[in-house]
Amino acid sequence: MIADGNAGTYGVRVKTNSLSMLSKVIVRIVFTLTPWKSDDPLGGMMKIVVAVLALAFMTAPLALAQQEIDQMTSVWEGVFTEAQANRGQAVYDGACGLCHGRRLNGAPDDPDMRSTPPLARAKFLREWEGRSLAVLFEYTRATMPENNPGSLTDAEFVDVIAYMLSVSGMPAADEELQPDPQSLARSVIQQQP
Ligand code: HEC
Repeated sequence: MIADGNAGTYGVRVKTNSLSMLSKVIVRIVFTLTPWKSDDPLGGMMKIVVAVLALAFMTAPLALAQQEIDQMTSVWEGVFTEAQANRGQAVYDGACGLCHGRRLNGAPDDPDMRSTPPLARAKFLREWEGRSLAVLFEYTRATMPENNPGSLTDAEFVDVIAYMLSVSGMPAADEELQPDPQSLARSVIQQQP
């Protein structure tokens, strides 16, 4: 249902896991390949060289992952402005409310219409936990409004996302959310502050 392949915390977490897996494999290789009880002093030397090389190999990508994590911002840290959320509300009411409901809870305004997923609060946040705003942005702009995808501008989509976050209880701050996939990729959706 939701497009994956994101660059958020989620991705970093997976990467870190596979890195620790990788380090286990390397340690195993070092231990099997190098002679532990060798009469040859070069054997011991070789063991150290291989271990140092393996360590360098392992820590380079780890440092990179740590840098990526440092750049991540939670959506609770103030990623949109109040004015932006207000603009988003106007767009939402015109383009999304019909299906996702005035309260963003997935109960359509027209009772004859089928229900849709909620776009704010606990259930929505649980569904999107750990994904970045870039994933939400790409999904939304590719598929929504379901009856007319592509009818809104990128700026309108980030405004609507700001409104969705605001209704979910996230605080506004003084910088607008930008319709730029790279900066959106650094904001991670989390259920709790
Ligand atoms: C014509 C009805 C309709 C309109 C209008 C509409 N949507 Fe949707 N939306 C849906 C349906 C139906 C789904 C569920 C799609 C699925 O599960 O494959 C959905 C799913 C979503 C999701 C994924 C939610 C989740 O957690 O799975 C998001 C985000 C979303 N819509 C955002 C928007 C936004 C933003 C707008 C306005 C720009 C909008 N939609 C307008 C019908 C609509």
